[in-house]
Amino acid sequence: MALGEKYNTGVVWQDFQHQQLMDLFFKVKEAKVKKSGNEVFRYSLAFLAMYVNHHFKLEEEYMDIYYYPETESHKKEHKGLVKKIKELRKKYPNYEEKGMDNILITLNDWILKHILGDDKKLGEYILSCEQKNRAIADETRH
Ligand SMILES: [Fe+2]
Ligand SMILES: [Fe+2]
Repeated sequence: MALGEKYNTGVVWQDFQHQQLMDLFFKVKEAKVKKSGNEVFRYSLAFLAMYVNHHFKLEEEYMDIYYYPETESHKKEHKGLVKKIKELRKKYPNYEEKGMDNILITLNDWILKHILGDDKKLGEYILSCEQKNRAIADETRH
């Protein structure tokens, strides 16, 4: 499922990775809907968690490079999700129906809300920094 336009941050790599995240999320969901078994659910979720880590790391690198003023609170949000995933995996080690539902709802809500809030704000900031950098580069060329 394609993420709607309102989820676009305008930063190419960020939008690309958010779409990837949603695609991986749907793989996890599909494992449940198609009753592919707990194993498929488990490793789809593990793969999503790995990609989440990779994505968070890249966003955080950009926050550091550009001295993003809201770095601390944004990183805290990221840590919160990683912790939540860990807790849910521990709480439902066998991925029974209720556990799968709980995990899916939590992930879906968190990811979408985070993109619309914190990530769009970060994206806007990255774009403005890059614009400034371009202006400086243009000036020095003349
Ligand atoms: Fe993000
Ligand atoms: Fe983020």
